[in-house]
Amino acid sequence: MLTELIQRLPKAELHIHIEGSFEPELMFEIASRNKINLDYDSVESLKNAYQFTQLQDFLDLYYQGMSALQIEQDFYDLTMAYMQQCKLENIVHAEIFFDPQGHTHRGVDFATVINGINAALVEAEQNLGISSHLIMCFLRHLDEQDAFKTLDQSLAHQDKIIAVGLDSTELGHPPQKFEGVFAKARELGYLCVAHAGEEGPAQYVKDTVELLQVNRIDHGNRCLEDPQLVKSLAYSQIPLTVCPLSNLKLGGVSDMRQHPLRELIDSGLMVTVNSDDPAYFGGYLSQNFIAVQESLGLSKTEIVQLVENSFKASFLNDELKQQHMAHISSISSEWN
Ligand code: HPA
Ligand code: ZN
Repeated sequence: MLTELIQRLPKAELHIHIEGSFEPELMFEIASRNKINLDYDSVESLKNAYQFTQLQDFLDLYYQGMSALQIEQDFYDLTMAYMQQCKLENIVHAEIFFDPQGHTHRGVDFATVINGINAALVEAEQNLGISSHLIMCFLRHLDEQDAFKTLDQSLAHQDKIIAVGLDSTELGHPPQKFEGVFAKARELGYLCVAHAGEEGPAQYVKDTVELLQVNRIDHGNRCLEDPQLVKSLAYSQIPLTVCPLSNLKLGGVSDMRQHPLRELIDSGLMVTVNSDDPAYFGGYLSQNFIAVQESLGLSKTEIVQLVENSFKASFLNDELKQQHMAHISSISSEWN
């Protein structure tokens, strides 16, 4: 079965919100030690609330869940739990989003957030052999001024952050709104990514490429509605970080057999598979691979291609990319 190959291959994950890996059990544990009351009285009742019809339903619970996180140790525990899951799944490199404004807006210092996350990443590199980069996302439902303020706060920690990103409510908050802050971030030496085309139209994907000058698009599914745009993405090979279980849970697709991943691959795009918010959407990276493999009938060659893409599309240097590619090639060639 290809499930075993999916497990064996070393993988990179490029679209994971660390706050979206907050499992209910850990959330209750941390809330309890911080003496914070959650709106749900048990892990079970919280899990029962994870029924979404659109992005905003999820975001409302996601911001609520974060409120348990108060001190550095909390951010360390959250991040270490994800890194341990990476180890189990043979994820050897992760590029991880965090949402500083989700914390600073409730009185938690930027430094508390990033120092806790970073301590876990440093330890995971040493003890688990997993490399990582951090991507700081701006919340797009807030104004650009607030993003500028966050960019300012990041400067003391620039050595720990490789890129800026853009997430939260997409519809009504087009990429234009953040043109200035992305230009400033680029000038400061940050790489850029942004969510686009998850719920928003193809035009948002096009504007994200042109106005925000991103190195990758997060999701990007709805680019398929504009054939010219698809051609240009195929030509530029700007990567798309696609998140199958997320799309299913948030109503972007009604059935995994209708997921656009196959069409994106067949259009020649640089596509990767990712988990987005695994604690909320019912599965980590391997489960996302298994879901699309089974529903779309992906071949061994296609699975290997997607895993190779995860490194090609990463922010690792060329030498490291080559090392990972060689490892993939040796495993896949032994596999019949
Ligand atoms: N989309 C937009 N914003 C987000 C997401 C997502 O899937 N997850 C966390 N913030
Ligand atoms: Zn996302």
